[in-house]
Amino acid sequence: MNTEHPQTLPPAIFLETFGCQMNELDSQLVSDQLRALGYRFTDDWQQADVILYNTCSVREHAEQKVWSRVGILGDYKREHRPDLVLGVIGCMAERDGKDLVRRHPQVDLMAGPAELDKIPHLIDNVLRTQLTDRGGLRAAQIALQGDNQRRATTLQAARDSLELIDLARSFSPERDGRSAYVRITRGCNKYCTYCVVPFTRGREVHRPPASIVEEVRRLVDAGAVEVTLLGQTVNHYHFDTNAAVDVDGVTQPQIGSVIAPNRGTGGPSPVFAPGVTSFADLLRQIHDSVPDLQRLRFVTSFPRDFGDDILTTIRDCPRICPYLHLPVQSGSDRILAGMNRGYTVAQYRDLLERARRIIPGVEIATDIITGFPGETEDDHQATLDLLTESQFKNAYIFKYSARPGTVAFDKLEDDIPDTTKRRRNRELLDAQNAASAIVHARYIGRTVPVFVEGASRKEQKKQQRSRVELGWETPPTSTAVVEATTQLSGRTPTDLITLFDGDESLAGSIVNVRITGAAGLCLFGEMI
Ligand code: SAH
Ligand code: F3S
Repeated sequence: MNTEHPQTLPPAIFLETFGCQMNELDSQLVSDQLRALGYRFTDDWQQADVILYNTCSVREHAEQKVWSRVGILGDYKREHRPDLVLGVIGCMAERDGKDLVRRHPQVDLMAGPAELDKIPHLIDNVLRTQLTDRGGLRAAQIALQGDNQRRATTLQAARDSLELIDLARSFSPERDGRSAYVRITRGCNKYCTYCVVPFTRGREVHRPPASIVEEVRRLVDAGAVEVTLLGQTVNHYHFDTNAAVDVDGVTQPQIGSVIAPNRGTGGPSPVFAPGVTSFADLLRQIHDSVPDLQRLRFVTSFPRDFGDDILTTIRDCPRICPYLHLPVQSGSDRILAGMNRGYTVAQYRDLLERARRIIPGVEIATDIITGFPGETEDDHQATLDLLTESQFKNAYIFKYSARPGTVAFDKLEDDIPDTTKRRRNRELLDAQNAASAIVHARYIGRTVPVFVEGASRKEQKKQQRSRVELGWETPPTSTAVVEATTQLSGRTPTDLITLFDGDESLAGSIVNVRITGAAGLCLFGEMI
């Protein structure tokens, strides 16, 4: 063996993900793409040659976390590892654009969410320039949608590389826990006045139904038990098969039409032209063509354009989970209008009533923004009342964060003091906790099928603590560390977190659990 020239290992990548499920999926697709090209991945950033942050811009707080990471890494890079490659990908890259590298010259590459397919090429470019330009300043490698209008103008004619990375993904039950995300729609056309997503992820683009069904089938064949369909407004999904374009045998995604399938929130099912696949059609196609898929979920639904056809499809297909994530954002019509949400509280209530009438046992979660510009105590009270009366299973409550580039940032003063936002946030959380406890208590005495995700957080912390107390030398198989039973965490079809004792090998399977107790955040039970 030639010890003077040890075999060089391929570069090791550390990838950290911030933000939403959409970002988790993007990170998975980027990893798969890089693995296929021979890159290695590491969980230890100090062992990495390339560090990638997949970022979120929805709230300022999420961005601050990344800035502090970038700052620390910049210092580390200057002092110890000038060869380290630092990449910022996802929404912050798209939103901050070239300003980001001006302010943080230690960043070597950037790619927006619509340009993730370019990352291998960008990394390769940085590594090559390093070889020729040792120690010198190198120009950052950048791919942003703002620079590249291909998706807006030539999408129908060009090969869509993002479609290819979705199609080329791999799935491993050990790594992915038997639960997989599948994107059905990219981007958003809604332009809620506070939201950066339409700017960072671009306009709405729908994937062809046959590709989606095929991807779900492949994931299930590879061991997935549960699939969650992702889109910013999944119920807007529509694909006109008559207008489909194939390039090199791959049907291309389609830009969403401006004609929404159903203008109101009201009862009648939307009317489609023949050949158009609606969201309800897509759900049924997946359900019927992949019979081994045990759980089909989807997030997020938009409260407008939600026809009864979707609700009856969920009711009629037993493996589609009776759970809706329906962000309402506010209980005040005045604030909803300021947010450009396009529905009233009465229309939202009507949708809740229809969903509960049509799908027996459905559970509903929501999102709320508190402290939107101009929100009065009366507006806030209206949101509190809505939370108390609507019996959501849970609510994600966010303090309004003014985002540069949005209409609200430009036109409305962020006039609610942070102390008021914090107080309102607390009051909303209290109201929701009381409502969640009522929803959870209804399950006591029932037996429910639970998809086991793994050890509960409390259990993970306990095991971590005992390992630290025992010292890292202690083998993890020591009986002092691994106990006979572990507290497991899983979810009911209605997405309620359920804690119960069992063996960790059950992770990834569905077991029956009798519910014996309930709290604001979860159910407790015994496996039967
Ligand atoms: N269509 C997506 C929205 C993505 S953003 C979805 O419904 O999941 C997720 C949530 O973040 C939104 O529903 C909203 O409640 C919150 N959010 C978005 N922009 C925000 C802002 N500027 N300040 C505070 N919260 C915001
Ligand atoms: Fe954002 Fe509104 Fe779309 S919250 S993602 S613009 S539906």
